[in-house]
Amino acid sequence: MSEPLILGIESSCDETGVGIVRGTQILANEVASSVEEHARFGGVVPEIASRAHLESFGPTLERAVQTAGIDLSEIDAVAVTAGPGLTGALVVGLSAAKTLAYALNKPLYGVNHLIAHVGVDILDHGPLPKPCAALLVSGGHTSILHVEDIARRVTEIGSTIDDAAGEAYDKVARLLGLGYPGGPIIDRLAGEGDPRAVRFPRGLTATHDMEKHRFNFSFSGLKTSVARWVEIRRRDGEEIVLEDVAASFQEAVADVLSAKTVDACEFMGVDTLVLGGGVAANSRVRSWLESRCGEAGITLRRPTPGLCTDNGVMIAVLGSQLVSAGVQPSPLDISPDSSMPISQVSM
Ligand code: KG4
Ligand code: ZN
Repeated sequence: MSEPLILGIESSCDETGVGIVRGTQILANEVASSVEEHARFGGVVPEIASRAHLESFGPTLERAVQTAGIDLSEIDAVAVTAGPGLTGALVVGLSAAKTLAYALNKPLYGVNHLIAHVGVDILDHGPLPKPCAALLVSGGHTSILHVEDIARRVTEIGSTIDDAAGEAYDKVARLLGLGYPGGPIIDRLAGEGDPRAVRFPRGLTATHDMEKHRFNFSFSGLKTSVARWVEIRRRDGEEIVLEDVAASFQEAVADVLSAKTVDACEFMGVDTLVLGGGVAANSRVRSWLESRCGEAGITLRRPTPGLCTDNGVMIAVLGSQLVSAGVQPSPLDISPDSSMPISQVSM
């Protein structure tokens, strides 16, 4: 059988993504972002995001179909983000996907956005070994996963007990007055700063924390620590070198993410680690993991930075994995699940 032709639809947050893949080959990857409409609020406004999806979906789909040079009647299945995410935003993509599946008489796959972040690397580096480990670092989630089979069985080994890594980037950027989303801005600034300028705390790495939280993360203490450091210097009228603060903050995040993840890989006895989520685009997270995985003899798989943030091809390629694995499609009456558990690959 030839590789399945899959249409993927993403609308969980502020990106309207439509992707088309044949098996693991990208034919189209169109993304319309409403990020600029949210910037002045310092975070995503759900109502604005939903409206933006509604306006962008049609044109984005048209561009994707044109770029791929296909007719919609040729597709084998429609894959769509069913959760987690903003309910109103998910509803727009899911409604569109159901309509297309019904009108074209094709199966529908409601998939987990987080698992799709992990699976996107298949587009760059081929099928995932079974089992492997994954580090998922996005705006809303930070988890270490044991991936037995990306189409059926994913287990969480550890996660953040407070803020997600991306959330910490966005909050720190906000308190430094740097704009939204904070991750790419801090990443850029950090490249010109000294990561040893300030020693910010590494959450849940003290001996007593390691007993209960060996594979868990905490970033809210780090954020508070940056806020207090800046507040004291502002009060005393001291100069703040933003590049140094950004680099020192980023060092603390990347150090703890990489150390705990490599420890978890060794604990699980897996020899491959795959990265996923917006923060997987971060230069220091990537370089710390590269050296620590190298030392531990673990193969590190890093998706192209451009595929790390939300898009439609990550949904399409997970759909293609489900079709190839013979997983049952979703009923047409599924509802979005804003807090879809990470252990549920599809509905
Ligand atoms: O995965 P994603 O696109 O959306 C969610 O599912 O949450 O991740 C968005 C998050 C934001 O918090 C953003 O600041 C962060 O990813 N991010 C980065 C970088 N690029 C995006 N964080 C650090 N460094 C980056 N280069
Ligand atoms: Zn995402």
